[in-house]
Amino acid sequence: MTKYVIHGGKPLFGEVEISGAKNAAVAIIPAALMVDGVCRIENIPQISDVTLCLRILENLGAGIRSVNSHTVEIDCTRIHSTRTSYELARKIRASYYLIGALLGRFGQAEVAMPGGCNFGVRPIDQHVKGFTAMGAKVVVEGGFIHASAETGRLRGANVYLDVVSVGATMNIMMAAALAEGNTVIENAAKEPHIVDLANFLNSMGASIRGAGTDTIKITGVSRLTGGTYAIIPDQIEAGTYMAAVAAAGGQVLIKNIIPKHMDCITAKLEEMGVSVEEKEDTLLVRRTEALQKTNVKTLPYPGFPTDMQPQITAVLSLAEGTSLVTESVWNNRYRYVDELKRMGASIQVDGKTAVVEGVDHLTGAPIQACDLRAGAALVIAALAARGQSEISCVQYIERGYENIVEKLRGLGADIRAVEVPGDSDELEAHIG
Ligand code: EPZ
Repeated sequence: MTKYVIHGGKPLFGEVEISGAKNAAVAIIPAALMVDGVCRIENIPQISDVTLCLRILENLGAGIRSVNSHTVEIDCTRIHSTRTSYELARKIRASYYLIGALLGRFGQAEVAMPGGCNFGVRPIDQHVKGFTAMGAKVVVEGGFIHASAETGRLRGANVYLDVVSVGATMNIMMAAALAEGNTVIENAAKEPHIVDLANFLNSMGASIRGAGTDTIKITGVSRLTGGTYAIIPDQIEAGTYMAAVAAAGGQVLIKNIIPKHMDCITAKLEEMGVSVEEKEDTLLVRRTEALQKTNVKTLPYPGFPTDMQPQITAVLSLAEGTSLVTESVWNNRYRYVDELKRMGASIQVDGKTAVVEGVDHLTGAPIQACDLRAGAALVIAALAARGQSEISCVQYIERGYENIVEKLRGLGADIRAVEVPGDSDELEAHIG
């Protein structure tokens, strides 16, 4: 088992290169199943969720060729099954994208129910609503979601999402790409990775317009051919490093980002007294003065992202004054707060709200990650804390952060990964 050992209290200085977006990659790789040809995908992050997605596709008959550490060629001309491996698919939340991809291209799909969840219930009723509207029959049996197009091919439909759902928007958009006729998704989510998936599908021959707005129009085509596509930089990875500088202090140049995607995070950090200088594809982040309190409410894009909520709460625990954090997307995304309290944080959680009373400093402690972004928040807190912290269950963190130890060491952080006797790092369920 791996632990991170961090000696905190050192400001961060230097440059960090942001990797490809995890939440784009875990949708685009399943979408490659729809392509009757070879997809060359570039700027893929080297994270365990991506490795798992590629193994799932290989298990279905896809040919995977690693061109270099961040580029793969995926050949889905000889897919021999539409039933995913139960053991593999159940480990990752994003396995639901396999339904849209397989149903869209082959008219049928059998996908293991996605992994459980570390922050509340994560239904997929809106995904099913879209598939059903397009003429699919969807049943859950024996731990699998069985979906089949009653006429053998989906047909276009109008779908109004009851909740703004990233997954449902992406899944329905994917399935509609090869459906017969036109589909309109209303009340669609607008996250950057949704636009990225639409751009990927269009580069393979799909006809999708309006991604990034709340109304997406898809004209079904008969076939997707091959092509090349580069994944966008990860907004949340970049935001996490910005939060690390805010908490630990120092000055860091964040490279390979799309500034527009960072606006909501930049604005919030500037309210706290952090300086952010935006250039074409970089942000220079500097924090030298005391952090100021502020209030945060997570919202669908372009609002403040829920996937930055644990990280910003860790920073606010060191701000002067009392801050209010409201989590409006997920029901129970504060499980990490108890770990921050071990370090001296003063946070009271009541339902969707956390009242964060800033303290003068945090102190290092043995702490445990409970999910991907919670783990990132603990790293941020440990970097700022006085003394040593040991973080366990870091495999959660490594699901979504490429080379986080090396990247932080490159910024002068005193962090190292240590192998300790204990259970294997294999996660019961990859969540996120
Ligand atoms: C995606 O999850 C991300 N995961 C999550 O990131 C992220 O927190 C979330 O979007 C919101 O941005 C991936 O992209 C793999 P939703 P997803 O459908 O698609 C409710 C991370 O840390 N809902 O947008 O599952 C749902 O309960 C992970 O990288 C329904 O009610 O999220 C939630 O309250 C964690 N019915 C809200 O909508 C549905 O059918 C938003 O969920 C679907 C969702």
